[in-house]
Amino acid sequence: MQTTRPLLVALTLGISLLVSPARAADPAAKPAAQEINKVCPVTGKPADPKITLTYAGQTYAFADDASRRKWKADRDASLYQKLGGKAAIDAAVELFYVKMLADDRVKHIFADVNMTRQRKKQKEFLSAAFGGPNPWTGVDMRTAHKELKLNETHFQAVAENLQKSLDELKVPKNLIDQVMVIAASTKDDVLNRPKAK
Ligand code: HEM
Repeated sequence: MQTTRPLLVALTLGISLLVSPARAADPAAKPAAQEINKVCPVTGKPADPKITLTYAGQTYAFADDASRRKWKADRDASLYQKLGGKAAIDAAVELFYVKMLADDRVKHIFADVNMTRQRKKQKEFLSAAFGGPNPWTGVDMRTAHKELKLNETHFQAVAENLQKSLDELKVPKNLIDQVMVIAASTKDDVLNRPKAK
């Protein structure tokens, strides 16, 4: 037993050294090339793969140069960018769900929810709502919450926990106010009640 273990380690090391160069040479092991959008996000027309812009590590294609300029100006002016982009929104959503799952008003509602998926979806939704680079492609908020039969108290808990999370992350008050306006704009849908006129 005492002598077989070093032998096993040496064998395993030897095998992995033999296998690694072969794996490195395998083109299938390389990360896949990024898929570039085929439709211009500004005009909805076919995108020209030569008219591109890389934003936050992702490359986007546009129909023409005016669309590229407009898209860039919109990103620069967005609440998404002012908040600090992906890293800031990821951090806020992580903290938000820590608070939600510790909140007696709402934690039971998430008992059977896949929270990994939920955090991911919420990051995507809020990023889009704040003017981030990628549109929301999931279900609309009325459909997403219809079966949950949510009420004012539930919505209040979300609003408070979101506000507290941003506050703790030292987001400036004027930006928190803008986030809260966007969150409030989903209220009628989330509570599945007629839209206020
Ligand atoms: C600002 C208000 C809200 C926003 C922006 C929001 C956003 C979202 C998003 C993006 C999803 C995922 C939809 C999808 O599956 O594609 C979702 C689902 C869900 N939300 Fe909300 N939500 C809000 C309010 C609430 C409230 C008040 C509650 C309850 C306290 C709640 C509980 C849930 C639950 C339980 C799910 C479904 C999870 C599942 O079954 O997979 N949400 N919400």
